[in-house]
Amino acid sequence: MIDNKTLDPAITASVEKLQSLFGNAPEVAVVLGSGWAGAVSHVQDARNLPYTELPAFPQPKVEGHVNEIVVGTIGEQRVIFLRGRAHTYESGDCTGMAGALRSLKRWGVKVVVQTNASGSLRSHMPPGSLMLIADHINAPQRSPLVGEQGSHRFVDMVNAYDADLRKHALALAKRENLMLGEGTYCWALGPQFETAAEIRMFAAWGADAVGMSTVPETILARHAGLKVLGLALMTNMAAGLSAEALTHDLTLKQAQMSGERASAFLAALVSSFAGLEL
Ligand code: HPA
Repeated sequence: MIDNKTLDPAITASVEKLQSLFGNAPEVAVVLGSGWAGAVSHVQDARNLPYTELPAFPQPKVEGHVNEIVVGTIGEQRVIFLRGRAHTYESGDCTGMAGALRSLKRWGVKVVVQTNASGSLRSHMPPGSLMLIADHINAPQRSPLVGEQGSHRFVDMVNAYDADLRKHALALAKRENLMLGEGTYCWALGPQFETAAEIRMFAAWGADAVGMSTVPETILARHAGLKVLGLALMTNMAAGLSAEALTHDLTLKQAQMSGERASAFLAALVSSFAGLEL
């Protein structure tokens, strides 16, 4: 449960730091998942800051992992990238990104683009393909908002993934000749992969992709009043849908193989936001 008494001063300190180092907020933030980190190489005048300098951001528990923000410009669009997210499977806590997202909102960010690596439930989206997240299924039925007060905790989750921004992303993909499926992302808590029976159930529910992130952040972002857009990179066919055994290595290898194209599209997407009313 979020302890707002402790979190609030941490958010204030984080926003002061961001404002003093980078000035006014960019309108666009991107949370980078596996496979998407290459987008940072498209940033001009990039300036980095480790999460350890931002008390409301998730503090890294494992040495050697990249946990930092990168602020800069792609084309005409200023942007902040978040490299490193807290996953619920690390601690059981699904509120890990609350402070970061609320800091972004208070600083002045308008849109959060979420990216992740997913297992595909659909043969027309093989490993390497990209899916625009149209909707999600919160399979664990866990909420980062448990314990929040006030009527705005009852967040409307219809069109949580902004309908206008999705139209914009699909049009861009068409212009760039990139196959971009649109579908429903199902959150599985992990860290174990799913059983084949679970995947059959998720498919029957209407899920097109499955992964271990994104949903808690989307809930937190919508609660904070941020617009959300989501992109999933398929790194494997979901459990039971291919002969290959699922391993973390396999998903990382595929993420690396397809990461360049995914990252180039992400960079083009960020750049295409310039001039839009966000
Ligand atoms: N299941 C859950 N999370 C994932 C998968 C998967 O098949 N692939 C990448 N992240």
